[in-house]
Amino acid sequence: MQRIPTTNVRGKGIDLNMKVLSINTSSRKNGNTAYACKVLAEAIAGADGEITHFDICKMDISPCKSCYACEVKGRCVVKDDWQKIHDALWEADALVFGTPVYVLRESAWARIFIERSVSLISHVEGLGKKGKTMYEAMREFKEEHPGEDYGMPSIRLPGGKHLYLVVTQNSPITYPAEQIMNYLSFIFAIVGCDIKRQWIITDTLESHDLKKSLEKDGLPPKVFSNL
Ligand SMILES: Cc1cc2nc3c(=O)[nH]c(=O)nc-3n(C[C@H](O)[C@H](O)[C@H](O)COP(=O)(O)O)c2cc1C
Repeated sequence: MQRIPTTNVRGKGIDLNMKVLSINTSSRKNGNTAYACKVLAEAIAGADGEITHFDICKMDISPCKSCYACEVKGRCVVKDDWQKIHDALWEADALVFGTPVYVLRESAWARIFIERSVSLISHVEGLGKKGKTMYEAMREFKEEHPGEDYGMPSIRLPGGKHLYLVVTQNSPITYPAEQIMNYLSFIFAIVGCDIKRQWIITDTLESHDLKKSLEKDGLPPKVFSNL
């Protein structure tokens, strides 16, 4: 992880004029993660771009119900605000996804997003086309291919969406944010996103810490990136 020049935070080297979906998974609607997501989204969207921002903590969204209906229907069928996120994801050119560190991991809201993202891929699409239920298709595959996995899942989300990841934490060192960043990068790569930047912002405790230090001297407390 490299400490990065602050000028990059303001968008230098970032693709401009995009339709950007910004997702804050902090429990604070106006905290450091939300602020970082918005600053980045504005930089990416540019003058002619478009931003949709969601604070997941203010949405009606539950963890995955494990119904596997998405395998058959091609998208999650649970009637809550995931449907809004799904539609916005489809439309977006770029995604900014931010989580604070909560007890050495991503937030529970981030976890809910990740669980529901399972509906963006299919493990058994090819098998399901045989007109069987997903369970029948999976059972049949296991019988015919003992010891084998289903192979790579197929991605439903239109590919190549530019991804910008943000992790904020109070600790001044990059642990555990770096591990969380690696995990998020892996998950988003599976759903077909093209990772452009990773930002780890440290030393943020009070909700206004990042905003205050950016406004005061244009500097975030500390920003690290490994891309
Ligand atoms: C429940 C909880 C657990 C936290 N755990 C950690 C932690 O393990 N490591 C850390 O550095 N900061 C931890 N923090 C601090 C937050 O990650 C940090 O203040 C972050 O910037 C908050 O983001 P926000 O302003 O968007 O809410 C924790 C905060 C909360 C509320």
